Amino acid sequence: MEDKINSFLEEIKGITIQAEEEAEQFRLKYLSKKGIITALFDEFKTLPPELRKTTGKILNELKQAAEAKLVEAKAVQNSTSNTQNSKLPDLSLPPDPINLGSRHPISVVRKQMTDIFNRIGFVVSEGPEIEDDWHNFGALNFPADHPARDMQDTFFVESEGADKWLLRTHTSSVQVRVMENQKPPIRTISPGRVYRNETISARAHCQFHQVEGLYIDEGVSFADLKQTLYYFVQEMFGDKIEIRFRPSFFPFTEPSAEMDITCLICEGKGCPVCKHSGWVEILGCGMVHPNVLDNCKIDSTKYTGYAFGMGIERITMLKFRINDLRLFFENDMRFLSQFKSVL
Ligand code: DAH
Repeated sequence: MEDKINSFLEEIKGITIQAEEEAEQFRLKYLSKKGIITALFDEFKTLPPELRKTTGKILNELKQAAEAKLVEAKAVQNSTSNTQNSKLPDLSLPPDPINLGSRHPISVVRKQMTDIFNRIGFVVSEGPEIEDDWHNFGALNFPADHPARDMQDTFFVESEGADKWLLRTHTSSVQVRVMENQKPPIRTISPGRVYRNETISARAHCQFHQVEGLYIDEGVSFADLKQTLYYFVQEMFGDKIEIRFRPSFFPFTEPSAEMDITCLICEGKGCPVCKHSGWVEILGCGMVHPNVLDNCKIDSTKYTGYAFGMGIERITMLKFRINDLRLFFENDMRFLSQFKSVL
């Protein structure tokens, strides 16, 4: 009888149960009332007492092995049916983090700048990036032989016929379009992208952004210009910032000036960024040249106005202490994601 038990033991060890019916068949064959093991126990009762000890031991082992096999099969089935159920979402799991983007620093600063000017009544106006010669140069009093019109500085767009098309070199072109289409009083700013044929470096790029400002009305003076720009820098950089004007030249303004602000790095004490002067230049400005008003059919005997133009990159670099202009155009996530917390 022991041989018979041992061969069943081997048989059970070799069985693998996968489906639920297989488990039931296994139970019926070995563990049910009419099964093999029950029959063996019946046979066991007929053994002479001296054989019972050893045979009983292996018979119990057989029963335990059969029961263990069944338990194991049930466990496997439970876990596979769990994975089938897991197609349904587990609503108790924490959600995947949503990777929020960030605004580009140029957009952040452009928005701050337009907000500041909006508060004192300037409205935003826009113009095309592909311009004609008249709006970019002619109406702005650039003489025909002005060096800025040269291929060296301006990207020309291939064009047929007499019209010369180009990528605007400054947003001053928008002031012409506004003056042609609106009557004074005019109070507008024009943010936008501009292009110049420059070698790309840490300080220059072939594309960048400017904000142009224009105010035309009766009796507008240089003092109004100064006060407006003073208000702007104090809003933008804080009330410790001072301004100064230096005489300059632009064909479309007379008189013209460039404006410096206190160096933000050394607070005016002098450092390498401001070349030890304590000042950094941020914009060009002046009183709109009478020729420009006349070119745009605005009566220059009745109206005066001021204009200014500044680079958004320059302001952004000062605000966030960025030392390389190229970073704005490279789309390097390591750079851009630093602006996540800035609205
Ligand atoms: N358009 C000039 C430039 O791109 C900037 C500028 C200077 C704009 C003086 C103005 C101005 O409106 O009055 O360098």
